[in-house]
Amino acid sequence: MSKKVKVIIGSVREARAGEAVAKWFMEHTTEFEGDINFELVDLAKVNLPLMDEPAPPMSGNEYVHQHTKDWSKSISEADGFVFITPEYNHGYSPALKNAVDYLYNEWKGKPALMVGYGSDGASHSILQFREVLEFVGVRPLKDQLGIAQIWEAFDEKGQLKAEKIQGDVVALIQSLKDELSSGSASSIA
Ligand SMILES: Cc1cc2nc3c(=O)[nH]c(=O)nc-3n(C[C@H](O)[C@H](O)[C@H](O)COP(=O)(O)O)c2cc1C
Repeated sequence: MSKKVKVIIGSVREARAGEAVAKWFMEHTTEFEGDINFELVDLAKVNLPLMDEPAPPMSGNEYVHQHTKDWSKSISEADGFVFITPEYNHGYSPALKNAVDYLYNEWKGKPALMVGYGSDGASHSILQFREVLEFVGVRPLKDQLGIAQIWEAFDEKGQLKAEKIQGDVVALIQSLKDELSSGSASSIA
């Protein structure tokens, strides 16, 4: 049976680069069709308010708000994730932190590929985000994908310039696929 992977766009601001990065990523998923069903999740459209549940998600209490119940359903049905994260002041985006904080058990045990972009490939952002994801039980792949100098990474045809990419996107999707089917600890951080 095919696995479901949610590709989460972590920036929500106007004129964001995140959408173009996600589009570029999705173009590389076609050869995995049948094995993995990749679904884009745009946090700008999910539009969660700042975390407003009365009880901590790890308490086991019922969620109160409909937006939390909807978000819980969306993340529960995923087998794994691709996080598309910008770098803001050496950190990851507040939208991603908020989206993670809403839930707890829904994330647990699921592998994730990190895709970062910024001036140097978002290494600071991804490092910080890994710590938070690991706390909620996500298993980020050890290797990550970076896009450097994002403001000039796409050419006039909207294609991502090869020299800006750090990492092999198809090989990393293959690693995610391996993780989804085996769950082995060898390739996780
Ligand atoms: C508030 C803010 C802070 C930023 N800080 C960093 C940074 O610390 N490191 C970096 O590489 N890029 C930084 N940038 C540049 C972003 O990586 C770049 O603008 C990128 O396009 C942001 O992603 P987005 O367009 O999807 O929001 C920053 C951008 C913003 C808006």
